[in-house]
Amino acid sequence: MLDLKPTGAGTGTAVAAREDGVQVRANVYPVQVAGVGIAIPEGRLTNADLERMVETTDEWIVSRTGIRERRIAPPDVATSDLALAAARAALNDAAMEPGEIDLIIVATITPDHSFPATACLVQAGLGIANIPAYDLSAGCSGLAYAIDQAWHALSSGAYKNALVIGADTLSRIVDFTDRRTCVLFGDGAAALVLSRREPGATPGILASNLGADGRGGSLLILPAGGSRLPASHATVAARQHYLQMNGQEVFKFAVRILEESTRRVLAKAGLTVDDLDLFIPHQANIRIIEAARERLGIPPERVIVNVDHYGNTSAASIGLALAEALQEGRLRPGMLVAMTGFGTGLTWGSILLRWTKEPNGTPAVTER
Ligand code: UT7
Repeated sequence: MLDLKPTGAGTGTAVAAREDGVQVRANVYPVQVAGVGIAIPEGRLTNADLERMVETTDEWIVSRTGIRERRIAPPDVATSDLALAAARAALNDAAMEPGEIDLIIVATITPDHSFPATACLVQAGLGIANIPAYDLSAGCSGLAYAIDQAWHALSSGAYKNALVIGADTLSRIVDFTDRRTCVLFGDGAAALVLSRREPGATPGILASNLGADGRGGSLLILPAGGSRLPASHATVAARQHYLQMNGQEVFKFAVRILEESTRRVLAKAGLTVDDLDLFIPHQANIRIIEAARERLGIPPERVIVNVDHYGNTSAASIGLALAEALQEGRLRPGMLVAMTGFGTGLTWGSILLRWTKEPNGTPAVTER
């Protein structure tokens, strides 16, 4: 573990003491969020619609999950289309041209194809080339993972502006005959432009906490279509190309890890829950959010909730909630905000931000 201590004010250089005692020099630049954009499909799937599809009720869905409707992408819209629309909106919000971006990371578990990477499709859509673009698979923790990775890439001095996108069309892998899962998920994308600032500038990203416990891999899984179980008539007949979830086990993990990871990321920055102005948890279930909020002792007015109108949008979730907080004027410069995701893997990820961006109207929202 590297413990970086800045050496000269304004130099952007730090000395890192490795565990083996060797001293290494590293560049440490502050990184800020320069733009936010989202893309959500126009099509709404309401609880009343689901009542006509499976044996369920609006009352069950609202009381057990808090979800009232979700957005579903039309057949001709894939994950990269939503990701590209969100990316354009974020660039617009940052007042930046695509050519200023030098790194693209797309967090998704529903890529357009196994390969090429969805990030490469987004890159082509933006009309740029010759910069790294790759996908990252961490489920609903994906955007937190991607922000962490881009933050380190930028703060090292290797890159200047990164486009980080969380995008999923989970409706494509949900079994709409399985009432235990089909009521939960929706489609969407959220993009952030992260920018390196000159040494001495106020850091926007203060700390991160990522983790995984692969022993829980089977609790939330898409069994078929990969190298373990290639797609075949048999896998399709067995509905193994749809996601499967052990809801109760994921629920318990979610409540525990939302609290633990949020406390850990605050502790890394020498801060506590009382310092938090805004908490943006992954939007999977209002009961998970409420249980974690109570364990953390955060008042309801400091928590962003939009699971009621988007459902669980996987990698887009915390980004959509961040954009909504901005739009509603609930996130202003100087505020301390923690975003925490959890999901398949099992994985988790928290990002701690000091919000630095002055309001630039409302974040651009593109609907398709
Ligand atoms: O992004 C990360 C991934 N996902 C999550 O975070 C999800 C975590 N888990 C959950 O949110 C909850 O476990 C669920 C919402 C999935 C389920 O809620 P639950 O309170 O854990 O319900 P349950 O699975 O214990 O099921 C209770 C009953 C069962 O009936 P019986 O066996 O008691 O007769 C289910 O068959 O509710 C039944 N049920 C439904 N009934 C009506 C399950 N789904 C439905 C439904 N409509 N849609």
